[in-house]
Amino acid sequence: MKTSIPGLFLDSGLNGLSRFQIRTAAAQGQLFLHGAHLAAWQPAGHQPVLWLSGSSWFQSGRPIRGGVPICFPWFGPHPQDPALPAHGSARLQEWQLQQTQADDDGTLRLVLQTVVGNFQLRYEICPGAELSLQLDCQLSPDATEPEKFEAALHTYLQVSDIRSIWITGLENSGYLNKVPQPEWCAASEQPIQFTAETDRVYQGTADTVVLHDPGLLRRIEISKQGSLSTVVWNPWIDKSRRMPDFGDDEWTGMVCIETACVGEHAVVLQPGQSHRMSALIRVLS
Ligand code: BG6
Repeated sequence: MKTSIPGLFLDSGLNGLSRFQIRTAAAQGQLFLHGAHLAAWQPAGHQPVLWLSGSSWFQSGRPIRGGVPICFPWFGPHPQDPALPAHGSARLQEWQLQQTQADDDGTLRLVLQTVVGNFQLRYEICPGAELSLQLDCQLSPDATEPEKFEAALHTYLQVSDIRSIWITGLENSGYLNKVPQPEWCAASEQPIQFTAETDRVYQGTADTVVLHDPGLLRRIEISKQGSLSTVVWNPWIDKSRRMPDFGDDEWTGMVCIETACVGEHAVVLQPGQSHRMSALIRVLS
C-alpha cells in the first residue's frame, strides 16, 4: 500500500507485524514498527549492507535477528533480574511512526517514538546512499531522581566470509572480552580478525571503525557520536547452533559492530535531560 511519501510502502507485514518497504532511487530497505527495527538497507549500486537471518522470528514478544535491533535500557542480561528480556524491552515494543519525509536525493527521513519506563525515545532513521541512525533518549521531567541507561544500535552487517574480513579503528581501545570468561584486555594495537567466537565490548571508542571485506570488494565505515562503546560480535559455530533463531551455518556471513553506551559508558540523565547517540554508515569501494 502506498503511503503519502514516495518510496515508502506499507505491506501486509509478517505475522501481524507492521512493515514498511523502502524503494527509492537512493536505497531499498525494510522497517518494522516492532522494535523500530530497520531490517534491511541496500544503497543503490551496492550489495545489501545489513544482514538478516533466514531463521529469524518475526513475532511480537520476540526480537528480530538481524538488521539493527535497538538495545535499551540495558545491554545483555538485566543486571539484577535474569528473567527480564536480554538487551532490554525497546526491541520488543511497537513504536509509533511520527514523521516521514523524502529528500530530493531519495533519502527518506523516518522518525519513530516510544516510551520505556521514564524515558522518551525518539529514533530518526535516514536510509539513502548513506544510512544515518540517531537515537535520542530523554528522561521525563516528571522523574524524581536521575536514571541510568545503556543503549546499543546492534548493527548486523553482511560479510563475504567472517574468516577473511578485518576491522580497523579499535586498535587503541581496551575491551571486555566476554568469551570464554569475561576478562579485561588491554588495547591490542592490531586490526580485529576472526578465528573463533568473538564477543567484545570495546570502551573509549570515539573513532570511526572500518570493516574491510575484500570478498565483497568493499569497506563499510561507521562513524558515530555520543557513543564511547563499540561491541563486536560473531557467534561462530557452537553458539550459532544453540540459537534457535539463527541458522547453523549463517555465522560465516555476518558480523555485528554495535554503536553503544554500555558498562562504564552507560549514561546517567537528570530529570528533563536528554542524550543523543548517532551512527553514520557508508559503503566505500
Ligand atoms: C551481542 C552480545 O551484542 O548480542 C552477545 O554482546 C549476545 O553477548 C548477542 O549473544 C546477541 O544477543 P541476543 O539477545 O540478540 O541473542
